[in-house]
Amino acid sequence: MNYKIITYGCQMNENDSEKIAGMLKQAGHSPTEDENEANIIILNTCSVRENANDKFFGHLGYYKKLKKEKKDLVLCICGCMMQQDSVVNEIKSKYRHVDMIFGTHNIHEFPQLLADHLEKHEMVVGIWEDGREIVENIPVERKHEFKAYVSIMFGCNNFCSYCIVPYTRGRERSRTVESIRSEVEALAKTGCKEITLLGQNVNSYGNTLGEEITFPGLLKELAKVDGIERIRFMTSHPKDISLELIETIAGEKKLCNHVHLPVQAGNSRVLSAMNRKYSKEDYLDLVRKIKVKIPGVALTTDIIVGFPGETEEEFMDTMDILEKCEFDSAYTFLYSPREGTPAYNMEEQIDEDIKHERLNRFLDRHHRISKKINQGYLGKVYDVLVEGLSKNNPDNVTGRTETNKTVNFKGDVSLVGQIVKVKITQAKSFSLDGEIVS
Ligand code: 5AD
Ligand code: SF4
Repeated sequence: MNYKIITYGCQMNENDSEKIAGMLKQAGHSPTEDENEANIIILNTCSVRENANDKFFGHLGYYKKLKKEKKDLVLCICGCMMQQDSVVNEIKSKYRHVDMIFGTHNIHEFPQLLADHLEKHEMVVGIWEDGREIVENIPVERKHEFKAYVSIMFGCNNFCSYCIVPYTRGRERSRTVESIRSEVEALAKTGCKEITLLGQNVNSYGNTLGEEITFPGLLKELAKVDGIERIRFMTSHPKDISLELIETIAGEKKLCNHVHLPVQAGNSRVLSAMNRKYSKEDYLDLVRKIKVKIPGVALTTDIIVGFPGETEEEFMDTMDILEKCEFDSAYTFLYSPREGTPAYNMEEQIDEDIKHERLNRFLDRHHRISKKINQGYLGKVYDVLVEGLSKNNPDNVTGRTETNKTVNFKGDVSLVGQIVKVKITQAKSFSLDGEIVS
């Protein structure tokens, strides 16, 4: 059969989709981009924001039509939304054309669930309420040979008051160093140069293992793997980042000069209401240390505007943090109330118009800051890992610096997967242009 997987949301979901693809491929099925050719369609959902829910139900309506035309199409849905009872109940009652539903904790059961559906021809539902022991050795079908995501832990114990992830991905669990190392060694053998380690809060890696291993310890172990030239990771919670981690990034060549450190908001009262456990001053102190100890570091962040009760004055602290930290890039979100989280019931939900207006002010200022940062790259030479042909110009390739800047330059497909030296000739707000120098 042919399969098509549509992935919404974060890198963790992308990595889960790669595992689902791995299991399908192992069973002899083939990928297709063309929906009309697909016999199995899988929607891997995200529930971080409310509008994802609305879009998802819109898509389900569309697939109802497609299923009428193609009677043997198998429609599977999985991911974070399936860990919410209200969503699953709605699907069971109103969207009977769905064939399979499974959650984030039991992806490895996918082949069995598919076999059950193909045998019984009825809706099959398999959802575990929480994560049990980690299942290793699920085959993974990766998008690229030269770079790969590696999940090092699952779940989250932080319960930020706006966030649904601890409810959909369960409690924090870390993989063992041995299993992570063997995955990375296998990747290196097949030509992988860059790995991105994934976890909701990588700084608490190892807490559930009952051994003396910390995240910097894991990084040092993985840096020993021959063939791996770049190591990235996300996400770091500011409350848990250690001096040892900052020094490890500064001292270990393979660790990319890039820290993704979500601040979420600039005001200390708002941060406390978000249950983030650090103040504005704590965050600024941390950023100062990072910038002093890791010269040339790129700092990126996540920002939520319009958290319940956020006043104009409090929002100005977010603008002030932007001004002081000069983020290379910022993923910005309008606060979205998620049922089941403490912030959902907070009074003083902010008007959507005010949220948009604040977001626009933030983005406007940020564009100018990122352009200024990018201008600092002009005339210098950087190592760039070439990721593919440029979308806009077939004579150009696109790649990334260690600091995760996108660089476009003249080149052909033979460069893909290589690390080359590129001199920067033009700086834009969100990318750089350059020319290859070796
Ligand atoms: N509303 C808006 N943004 C959210 N995020 C998480 N929950 C919400 C929410 N309810 C954002 C945070 C987090 C990122 C992955 O998504 O900024 O860091
Ligand atoms: Fe959500 Fe906070 Fe956990 Fe990140 S650390 S996944 S924002 S609860």
